[in-house]
Amino acid sequence: MISLNIEKTFGFISKESISAYEAKVKEAQEALENGTCKGSDFLGWLHLPSSITKEHLDDLKATAQVLRDNCEVVVVAGIGGSYLGARAVIEALSNSFVWLQEKKNAPTILFAGHNIGEDYLYELTEYLKGKKFGVINISKSGTTTETALAFRLLKKQCEDQRGKETAQKVIVAITDAKKGAARVTADKEGYKSFIIPDNVGGRFSVLTPVGLLPIAVAGFDIDKLVAGAVEMEKACGADVPFEQNPAALYAATRNELYKNGKKIEILVNFNPKLHYVNEWWKQLYGESEGKEGKGIFPAAVDFSTDLHSMGQWIQEGERTIYETVISVEQPTHKLVVPSDDENLDGLNFLAGKRVDEVNKMAELGTQLAHVDGGVPNMRISVPALTEECIGGLLYFFEKACGISGYLLGVNAFNQPGVEAYKKNMFALLNKPGYEAESKAIRARL
Ligand code: PA5
Repeated sequence: MISLNIEKTFGFISKESISAYEAKVKEAQEALENGTCKGSDFLGWLHLPSSITKEHLDDLKATAQVLRDNCEVVVVAGIGGSYLGARAVIEALSNSFVWLQEKKNAPTILFAGHNIGEDYLYELTEYLKGKKFGVINISKSGTTTETALAFRLLKKQCEDQRGKETAQKVIVAITDAKKGAARVTADKEGYKSFIIPDNVGGRFSVLTPVGLLPIAVAGFDIDKLVAGAVEMEKACGADVPFEQNPAALYAATRNELYKNGKKIEILVNFNPKLHYVNEWWKQLYGESEGKEGKGIFPAAVDFSTDLHSMGQWIQEGERTIYETVISVEQPTHKLVVPSDDENLDGLNFLAGKRVDEVNKMAELGTQLAHVDGGVPNMRISVPALTEECIGGLLYFFEKACGISGYLLGVNAFNQPGVEAYKKNMFALLNKPGYEAESKAIRARL
């Protein structure tokens, strides 16, 4: 269902150089399967789709129904891997303008806990005043400051507005089985909770309750999402020959481009609904590969919007970039350009064409222009924006990331660099336990 075309990289790297990765990719696949790669404690995502049971999905759907029945708005609190996957899928599948999905009788989904913006949180709490809202509190560690701070505000407001008993029903926790403040609170307050498996890292957790519960609350079919991922788990499996395996080919091609000086990968979409898929991808690849002084820098653009901002740079700037385009073959709706007797705007040459045909020609024209400008181009074709296809796309990127990290020689499953800012922030905020760091950092100010 997802297919990859790498032909427009061949003017920059050779077909043979990609084929030369076959043995190394096989080694990567085996290391992932046998748990012998770096970070092997975090390989729970690898066969996650095919291990999801009907009972688990039913439990998630029943909990989603409780939230749908009792809430006009559900705020999903989380950051990084505990945020982006749910948002990516919900935005990809949602109507861009129907805020309250009345037809599906689903609550509006809002997000918090992914920033520390006082205005953002103030405006959110104002918006929620008088509304029947619930909260899904997502944090694997259960201690992430951004999320914990938002949840503290939301919990209090929910209890104040709806009473302790209802709040207990409409607050759900998704966290570690045993550790962390989110677990302590969930157990003490008697919230319904779901566990994030120990061996699934945040950015690989979209197919755990972290992504599945908010997606189900938003009214989308998580059975189909998982089915799409299962299909891609097979299509990207260790037994699939290298040339036919999209995850293997993508991982090999991006590493070969990187070796040839293409240090920046720009993920491109031509459909604004995919904006957060790009954001999710940036986190997946940035946090997985950017370490030990190595790693392709993951950037993203929404075309054709950003052709009018970043297009110039991409066409003629430093030649250290390549593009990966997510191309959606079929739009969900049909809209034809009308004819106009006066033709004042000169657009009658488009009359009768679907808007998507114009978009597709923009896509094709851009690909050729950028290749001519020295930018290698890969294309990932997705048949349509459906649950199955999105599930498949997410798994494809996860599997390719696991292989790609191995090819790069890094541990793709940790993120030690993320701790540095937290240590400084805690020291500056005088968090108990950070006294020495507090003193040291103040001396530097
Ligand atoms: O991928 C990761 O591990 C991170 O991006 C985390 O998801 C993020 O830092 C949030 O962590 P937590 O779920 O512990 O609150």
